[in-house]
Amino acid sequence: MGALRPLRSAQWYGGEHRNAYIHRAWMRRGAPSDAFTGRPQIAIANTASDLTPCNAHLREVAASVRDGVYEAGGVPLELPVMSLGETQVRPTAMLWRNLAAMATEEMLRANPVDGVVLLGGCDKTIPSLLMAAASVDLPAVVLPGGPMLTGTFRGTPLGCGTDVWRLSEEVRAGTLSQEEFTRSESAMIRSRGHCNTMGTASTMALVSEALGTVLPGAAGTPAPDSRLLEAAHGTGRLAVDLVHADRRPSTLLTRASFRNAIVALSAVGGSTNAVMHLLAVAGRLGIDLTLDDIDRLGSRVPVLVDLLPAGRFLMDDLHRAGGLLAVLRQVRDLLDPEALTVTGHPLVDYLDDREIWDEEVIRPRSRPLVEEGGIAVLRGSLAPDGAVVKPAAASPHLLRHRGRAVVFDSIEDFHARIDDPALDVDADSVLVLRGCGPKGYPGMPEVANMPLPSKLLEQGVRDMVRICDGRMSGTAYGTVVLHVAPEAAAGGPLALVRTGDVVSLDVPARRLDLDVDADELARRTPSTATTAGFAAPHRGWQRLYVDHVRQADTGADLDFLLGSSGSEVTRESH
Ligand code: FES
Ligand code: MG
Repeated sequence: MGALRPLRSAQWYGGEHRNAYIHRAWMRRGAPSDAFTGRPQIAIANTASDLTPCNAHLREVAASVRDGVYEAGGVPLELPVMSLGETQVRPTAMLWRNLAAMATEEMLRANPVDGVVLLGGCDKTIPSLLMAAASVDLPAVVLPGGPMLTGTFRGTPLGCGTDVWRLSEEVRAGTLSQEEFTRSESAMIRSRGHCNTMGTASTMALVSEALGTVLPGAAGTPAPDSRLLEAAHGTGRLAVDLVHADRRPSTLLTRASFRNAIVALSAVGGSTNAVMHLLAVAGRLGIDLTLDDIDRLGSRVPVLVDLLPAGRFLMDDLHRAGGLLAVLRQVRDLLDPEALTVTGHPLVDYLDDREIWDEEVIRPRSRPLVEEGGIAVLRGSLAPDGAVVKPAAASPHLLRHRGRAVVFDSIEDFHARIDDPALDVDADSVLVLRGCGPKGYPGMPEVANMPLPSKLLEQGVRDMVRICDGRMSGTAYGTVVLHVAPEAAAGGPLALVRTGDVVSLDVPARRLDLDVDADELARRTPSTATTAGFAAPHRGWQRLYVDHVRQADTGADLDFLLGSSGSEVTRESH
């Protein structure tokens, strides 16, 4: 199969001159003799790493992608890229998302590559790959690595993340022994794959498919399922087709694609982190997507998927019940019929025969898990540029709430004082944690779902209003207001709250206010205890990051990484 137009890689490999010789000769090493003439060079950007255990199996998946690429006439080239293991990387994997995106973008541009298969899984890996692909704008297709199978403990399924939070609270409440808690540890991760809850990894896999960047039907296939390898093979073939069709992120992804992604995010009850990642990817494409779009397009959509943390089941149940496409068929009227997928066909074309096989896991539209899901965007004197809350994960009785603030200047300050019996806190208090935004921490860690004071847990309190400029794990739950912008370290009013101030939350009215009069607030400055909690890195990536990171309401990308530099071939190396 010959290319319809000169390939980008021909600028390395084409011709008889000395430099083409160099580019070809070093790559031969047993490659077929026609490997460099008219055959799409397909990078397999692989986030497999032993330190990203959720993605370690992608080495095997990549082998199936290679088969598909070769079969379709392309040449597969594995490109290990920066990988981020959510549970291992400190101070937070989010600090490195933009670095991973930048490094991947640059390596795709710098190399003789015509198209790319993006292999990700664990939380930040798919977002960073999508951001990279958008900015280099080469034909690209995502293959999500898939969730693990469900482990059980004492006969009960374990949800990754969610049950860690739940069981650890039980220990603190005195209803589970430390020994039993530790015993559950080896049951938590049953197999290869990423977290099995509707956390960020699962969410981003499904949202990427709704966006149109995944072979339809592939997202959510469990990592050990042989159908994942079938999808990998198909994805390899498709990558070659993408190059021939010159189908690039800029020609494929539109506002309509993001609308579909936002509808999917709501219908599956997905992670709040997806908001950050969608805004960041849109920023790379020059698509004007705002927090208000997320609320407007997503917050009237019913939640149809009964998965932890909002519900009961886990990712392999979702796959068994029909998967994402069965969910999307139920909300077809809310989807944009024109938005395309990587196959060149609209997403809605894949929905016709998608049945629900278990109506407990995927609810029909007539019987939603939550009538109106999505992510609510709040504004007010405490969050002038916005904050988010996931109503489906919150307690209904707290969605309208006024309470006295109990303020913490850092997560260490929080841990040092939260279980102090003398701490002046009750069930109506509002826990406020600051210094956890992109600049402040740095990197915006998942600390917003603060554990409740143990004296209140012992009284049976299971939720309180919590407010933070950080994020929370997609596997967490509770009435948690997060991504407050501007963050405290960027001069946001969150830095000025004092213990005892009254905070008022009104989710139906989309308000978050500090009941302190404006004159009084204008007189306040952040205390030295508050500012001492803000990061002040003096060199390296952290310095670059803190100097250039944007706020949460626009996705916390670096200011100089917005938009695209395209795939133009740069100057010769010799
Ligand atoms: Fe990797 Fe949850 S820790 S997906
Ligand atoms: Mg997570």
